[in-house]
Amino acid sequence: MPEIALLAIESSCDDTSAAVCINGQIVSNLIANQKVHEQYGGVVPEMASREHTKNIVPVATEALKKANISWQDLNAIAFTRGPGLMGSLLVGGIFAKSLAQALQIPLIDVHHMQAHVLAHFIDEPKPKFPFLCLTVSGGHTQIVLVKDYLDMQIIGTTIDDAAGEAFDKTAKMLELPYPGGPLIDKYAQLGNYKRFKFSEPQIDGLNFSFSGLKTNVLYFLQKEIKQNPNFIQENLNDICASVQHTIVHILMKKLTQAAQQTGIKEIAIAGGVSANSGLRTALQQLGEQNNWNTYIPQFQYCTDNAGMIAITAYHKYLKQEFCALDIPIKARLEF
Ligand code: KG4
Ligand code: ZN
Repeated sequence: MPEIALLAIESSCDDTSAAVCINGQIVSNLIANQKVHEQYGGVVPEMASREHTKNIVPVATEALKKANISWQDLNAIAFTRGPGLMGSLLVGGIFAKSLAQALQIPLIDVHHMQAHVLAHFIDEPKPKFPFLCLTVSGGHTQIVLVKDYLDMQIIGTTIDDAAGEAFDKTAKMLELPYPGGPLIDKYAQLGNYKRFKFSEPQIDGLNFSFSGLKTNVLYFLQKEIKQNPNFIQENLNDICASVQHTIVHILMKKLTQAAQQTGIKEIAIAGGVSANSGLRTALQQLGEQNNWNTYIPQFQYCTDNAGMIAITAYHKYLKQEFCALDIPIKARLEF
């Protein structure tokens, strides 16, 4: 069988990443994290695009070097078309288009959220179709019914904030630096989740809502700090454990409902929040109780990475699904 060598670029938010996939195996996956946003408490879009411009050539060059191949060995170039920050997407998109043009090879557009789901096809064990994937990131919270590699349907979504936002906004209220999700996870492991009770939304069907929880945490902290200005410092671990437990419970409740409704027992999680230790443990426990086969990506493939773009592109390559060089980049993009 001839070799299929692909270079994939991911630049939808604040990480610049490049990966090489050879015959469906990820042989390199490099990520340049942008530290510049920490001091601002969130991603500054203009700065993100400037950083991508600086990082993209060295990251892509290094990905090829690590894979031990040259530009001429590539059969196609893949990139994240959307959704994401427009300026960030444009840097990766223009770079990929220019490479495809210069090397005279096909271009493959990839949907960022589909790629989070297909990160499950990088390593073993791989889920069997059809499966359900709870995709939880900084911008999205979705339950996806995955019928085939490129045939997916969103059966539940958030009507306001994403789960990652709930983590990051809580962290901001606790005066933790951005991105706060991993820090909440770290402190939660030392705390008592039963200490504080937070409200859970009553939303019909498989949709989610996290804005009520955010307001609940804000009012709770304001009230407690009035009585004790050191309330956060003295109770940080328990606050983190209690908020994390609430978020995980909201997510697991709807995922269980989706499994019951569809009768599917192949259950996966993906996206940045799937790196959360509370969520990973909860899924494993629920899986044992309900007789599900559960799938959790390796840490490096949970948060944004080009490996997931490359594996998606590989399945598009097998179907010869290429795109035109003038395909528009989209900040908002449906499946
Ligand atoms: O998928 P991702 O890297 O980027 C987007 O597509 O948005 O997800 C980033 C989100 C952020 O909200 C970050 O705080 C959250 O994932 N996150 C976590 C953890 N690691 C990353 N949230 C909770 N616990 C973690 N360990
Ligand atoms: Zn993402």
